[in-house]
Amino acid sequence: MIQLAKTLRVMVLGVAGSLALGAMPLYAGPDDGAITNIPFSFEGPFGTYDQQQLRRGFQVYREVCAACHGLQYVPLRSLSDPDGLGMNPDWVRAYAGQMFILDPHTGEERPRKETDAFPARNEAGMGPDLSLMAKSRAGFHGPYGLGLSQLVNGTGGPEYIYSLLTGYTGAETDTGGAYLYENRAIEGAGIAMPPPFYDGQIIYADGTPATPRQMSMDVAAFLMWTAEPKLVARKRWGVVAISLLCVLALLLYLMNRRLWAPYKPERL
Ligand code: HEC
Repeated sequence: MIQLAKTLRVMVLGVAGSLALGAMPLYAGPDDGAITNIPFSFEGPFGTYDQQQLRRGFQVYREVCAACHGLQYVPLRSLSDPDGLGMNPDWVRAYAGQMFILDPHTGEERPRKETDAFPARNEAGMGPDLSLMAKSRAGFHGPYGLGLSQLVNGTGGPEYIYSLLTGYTGAETDTGGAYLYENRAIEGAGIAMPPPFYDGQIIYADGTPATPRQMSMDVAAFLMWTAEPKLVARKRWGVVAISLLCVLALLLYLMNRRLWAPYKPERL
């Protein structure tokens, strides 16, 4: 019994220790204030996507960002995934049909199907593909180091996107015809992307006021989903796996005690 109490104490201390490490503030290192921390719904070990937010973010992507950015690695059919946006499959089919693709088999243009991906934007002057942007900018000015901190606070990628979209200072430099827009999230002269938002630019289908901040937050969440569409399922399996491992650990402990009991002298 004493042994069990001891083991339990070590386990409790271990868990408390890792939680304390994980809950350390997002910016434990020097912070220049350029990246804002946002408590997104999908952060933390049990976090899930907010479906309404993903749908709003998708609307922002469609109506604003798609003019310059592709999502060529995101299959259109994933829009109807119930763990993500949960769009009606008929709607997805109709939406896909509005966009065209060059069919490699026939060499002709045809409407996209839901099994195709979003279009790419590779023309000159367009921005980089956004499919995996939230992951490729993970940790950018973001949470310092620890995997456990990321488990609790998220990776920092969506925070970077939010901070970029809201970070325009209004100053711009003319570099011989091409403009660079000063942005707090970017070091150096600025970014070639003009500020994308103004008030009242889009009207959200769910009635949420579409302020630039709201749009930035929603599209950042949507881009996290494009980069990590299986996040919810992965976390769900994580919980199942950890619970099973706990049961197994307890059984092993009890079995070990019973097996060795005859050989151990009784403690006084
Ligand atoms: C007018 C065209 C245009 C629009 C509209 C636009 N972008 Fe961009 N975006 C660009 C260009 C061009 C770049 C590359 C800038 C550079 O490298 O200096 C870029 C770069 C980016 C980057 C990468 C920054 C980095 O770290 O390298 C992100 C993220 C981004 N855009 C997100 C968005 C989002 C989200 C929207 C919609 C709200 C959007 N953009 C709308 C043109 C655009």
